[in-house]
Amino acid sequence: MRTRPMAPDQDILHGRVAVVTGSSRGLGFALAGALGRHGATVVLAARSDDGVAAAVRRLRAEGIAASGRRCDTANLAEVEALRDEALGLGPLDIWINNAGTSGVYGPTAWTPVEDFTNVVRTNILGTFHGSRVALPVFLEQGHGDLVNLYGQGDLGPVALQNAYASSKRWVRQFTETLRLEAKGTGVRVHGMNPGLVETALLGRVTSQEGYQKRLSGLQVVVGLWGQKPDEAARPIVDLVTSNAAEFRFLTRRRMVTHGLRNVLAGRLRKANRMPLEVTVLEAPGPSLP
Ligand SMILES: NC(=O)c1ccc[n+]([C@@H]2O[C@H](COP(=O)([O-])OP(=O)(O)OC[C@H]3O[C@@H](n4cnc5c(N)ncnc54)[C@H](OP(=O)(O)O)[C@@H]3O)[C@@H](O)[C@H]2O)c1
Repeated sequence: MRTRPMAPDQDILHGRVAVVTGSSRGLGFALAGALGRHGATVVLAARSDDGVAAAVRRLRAEGIAASGRRCDTANLAEVEALRDEALGLGPLDIWINNAGTSGVYGPTAWTPVEDFTNVVRTNILGTFHGSRVALPVFLEQGHGDLVNLYGQGDLGPVALQNAYASSKRWVRQFTETLRLEAKGTGVRVHGMNPGLVETALLGRVTSQEGYQKRLSGLQVVVGLWGQKPDEAARPIVDLVTSNAAEFRFLTRRRMVTHGLRNVLAGRLRKANRMPLEVTVLEAPGPSLP
């Protein structure tokens, strides 16, 4: 296999083993790539065997030390097996709970119960499981970086996206609590809100019937503030090499500068043509005002 050597100044994470959950595509794949390009040995995971294998191949082709395994983060035994695989590669000291899912767009009153449960299983239980297996390793060795992914809703309510938004609010509170508990131990707990990232999570949406029209504005919003996964993953190296508690892309300043830059670059017009795949569920019940 052809490999490209890393430049020495990029080797800041050399000797560190990093696990990234939900890394077969999207932001997780980009995060694994960013850590790997800085010398970390990366362990990828997602629910699809083929998806993980393809992602590992792509990173190895770049010269990154990558491996991976199938892992549903809602399943504790599978998350434990992921940790064990990582421990077999060297000292484990970066764990990113990135796996996440968005849920059906529409009012909570008619949200499909199994869909809501799926969001809770991945975003809440998955984040707990990842933290529960990584933290004992970190605390015993006296160092390690745990990163949890925040998202829309981490700071307040978002109508029609209650499952996702509430789960991310939970992730924030959970992460801040872990940070309190880890104080003075040498272990660092970070939160990352990458802002809008152009991935399947945004581009492939399921809506309750009657609510899909409200999604038309999403393309404009993505046109103004969306980032490519590699761009959004860039701050991860700073986060795990610093004492920063959290990284948040959409600060007020970036809302203005990034939005303005994209308008000037004509990206908004292009974004309007970007495909948004919306699957519409059957009529759930009476419309809300
Ligand atoms: N995209 C955005 O604009 C945005 C904004 C803020 C925060 N975030 C957060 O960033 C994270 C990544 O999102 P993304 O946009 O990259 O999503 P994505 O493109 O849909 O990718 C999600 C990844 O997670 C995996 N996954 C889903 N459920 C899983 C589970 N139960 N166990 C293990 N792996 C699972 C998927 O693979 P399989 O389906 O094969 O398992 C895939 O690899 C999420 O936590 C999301 O909330 C995203």
